[in-house]
Amino acid sequence: MPSYAEYLKIDELLALQRPLSEGPEHDEMLFIVIHQVYELWFKEILHELDHLQELLSRNDGAHARGTLKRILTILKVMVAQLDILETMTPLEFLSFRDRLESGSGFQSSQFRELEFALGWKDPKGLDRYPAGSEIRRRLERRLQSRSLWDFFLHHLAINGFPVPQSDLERDVTCRVESSPALREVLIAVYRSQPALAELCERLVDLDEGLMEWRYRHVKMVQRTIGTRRGTGGSAGADYLLKTLNQPLFPDLWAIRTEF
Ligand code: HEM
Repeated sequence: MPSYAEYLKIDELLALQRPLSEGPEHDEMLFIVIHQVYELWFKEILHELDHLQELLSRNDGAHARGTLKRILTILKVMVAQLDILETMTPLEFLSFRDRLESGSGFQSSQFRELEFALGWKDPKGLDRYPAGSEIRRRLERRLQSRSLWDFFLHHLAINGFPVPQSDLERDVTCRVESSPALREVLIAVYRSQPALAELCERLVDLDEGLMEWRYRHVKMVQRTIGTRRGTGGSAGADYLLKTLNQPLFPDLWAIRTEF
């Protein structure tokens, strides 16, 4: 039997936090640890999303709802973790910010993969990674694969709902667009099938949860670096503000006015 440390590769894990600043600056450790923790959560969510897609295809609604609940719980923890980073003052961050050079969460390939898997498809996200690299290939695969929304629509169809063919066969490399005919189907789901309606509500939780993360992240950015440009090369908070209030699943929001 491997020991705790062997099984979890603790020695390797604890050797991965290497501050670059002189001294090093005290707060750089927090900055590194929190980003690494986020990357681990991104990895786990991607793992669960792949499973969720499989469960939806197999028409296993009960386990799909359980998996979605797990993803939502992780997302809540991810949002809450921003509180920890907000204990770092602007001066504390500036003490080592130069060391990041062009490094930024902007370049997180797992975050882009997560966006793609959820249906936030933007091929521009690929440009940051060299053509032919393993990361680029992974992202291309995600871009060209069905998103969670597509698996959900097929799940509704398997359950006998008349999902329009144009939605079932939409171009999966694009963002999900609003579809009036689909809205009628979604309303029928809510009126007739409580278990599927619950699945819809959990998707709304997921959509709202990602928006919450984006909102909390931009607020943290504003309080830490104000309106400075980002180390990743964007306009900083101004760029991030444009990503707010853009739903992943627009029709699940639109039907609320139509019930
Ligand atoms: C002091 C802390 C932080 C600051 C000042 C900060 C700042 C920024 C800025 C300015 C951007 C815009 C892109 C650019 O760099 O030009 C950005 C993007 C991003 N950051 Fe942060 N960030 C911080 C912490 C984090 C943490 C802990 C994560 C977790 C992984 C994270 C993930 C991201 C992601 C995924 C993006 C891309 C968002 C998008 O394109 O919609 N950031 N960040």
